[in-house]
Amino acid sequence: MSTKLVLFLLFLAGPMIFAATDSTKTATMPKHGFVGVETCKMCHHTDKQGKQFDIWQNSKHAQAYKTLETDEANKIAKEKGFTTPAAKTPECLKCHVTGYNVEASLLGPKYKMEDGVQCETCHGAGADYKSLKVMKDKKLAVENGLMMHDDLKTFCATCHNPESPSYKAGEDFNKMWDMIKHPIPEAK
Ligand code: HEC
Ligand code: HEC
Ligand code: HEC
Ligand code: HEC
Repeated sequence: MSTKLVLFLLFLAGPMIFAATDSTKTATMPKHGFVGVETCKMCHHTDKQGKQFDIWQNSKHAQAYKTLETDEANKIAKEKGFTTPAAKTPECLKCHVTGYNVEASLLGPKYKMEDGVQCETCHGAGADYKSLKVMKDKKLAVENGLMMHDDLKTFCATCHNPESPSYKAGEDFNKMWDMIKHPIPEAK
């Protein structure tokens, strides 16, 4: 191959190589800090907003860490060959808490692993979208890390899948959504 041709090919491939490294970077490095459910509660617990906090608190997601502290959970972990208690086993924590395995510098003072599967598991880490100014502008909120999901089947199945030791096949995600949905009430 002539040097000219090699240079030409490099010229073509260059941007692709950079694009590839860029996207792996963003996929593996969450840029936004986790603030914890107590922070979201400040605004999302009123009747007018739709009491998202209260609905969440009464859901199993709020108990997901505590579940790992039970004898039943430890038994499951042991049977799977883990030597640590379930609440200290990464392979259990990864679906049972928000912000697991995230750099300590990204965890705010109110973030608590004990709060289990929190708002930020589903809506993205909130440090940069939690201010009223940003929250009121959905486009801006999304640019600052807010995530919404309309395809429940795909999204919920990131945890509700056969890798879960207690998974039962044939879960109906629409029914499950009815158990945890938390809409903003229509303005009257
Ligand atoms: C300072 C008050 C405040 C805080 C703190 C706050 N929010 Fe909000 N949030 C709002 C307001 C106001 C809206 C807009 C409601 C509307 O459109 O009626 C909103 C909207 C939302 C929406 C719906 C977006 C849309 O337009 O569909 C989600 C999801 C949400 N917030 C999640 C969170 C999460 C998760 C946290 C914590 C990380 C949080 N919020 C913290 C005030 C707040
Ligand atoms: C980060 C992982 C994760 C994601 C994502 C997730 N869940 Fe869960 N979910 C759990 C865990 C863990 C439990 C069990 C909590 C417990 O019992 O301690 C659970 C329990 C539930 C339960 C209670 C089931 C029962 O038998 O009472 C419902 C309902 C539910 N999830 C609905 C949903 C829906 C709907 C979605 C998608 C919008 C979703 N979940 C996404 C981890 C997740
Ligand atoms: C892939 C995600 C995932 C992993 C990994 C995972 N869980 Fe879960 N776990 C769930 C979900 C989701 C539920 C709610 C029930 C369901 O839909 O499977 C749950 C429910 C449970 C329950 C409550 C069971 C019940 O019937 O109420 C226990 C106990 C439990 N998990 C223990 C563990 C232990 C121990 C580990 C580690 C060995 C583990 N889980 C790993 C997602 C996971
Ligand atoms: C298991 C995942 C999950 C958890 C946990 C969760 N949400 Fe949501 N949330 C969703 C999904 C899915 C939607 C619907 C998105 C859509 O319809 O596009 C939603 C919608 C919303 C909306 C918009 C409702 C509307 O009518 O437009 C708000 C506000 C919201 N969530 C706030 C919160 C807050 C605050 C918390 C924590 C207290 C929380 N969510 C916890 C998955 C979750």
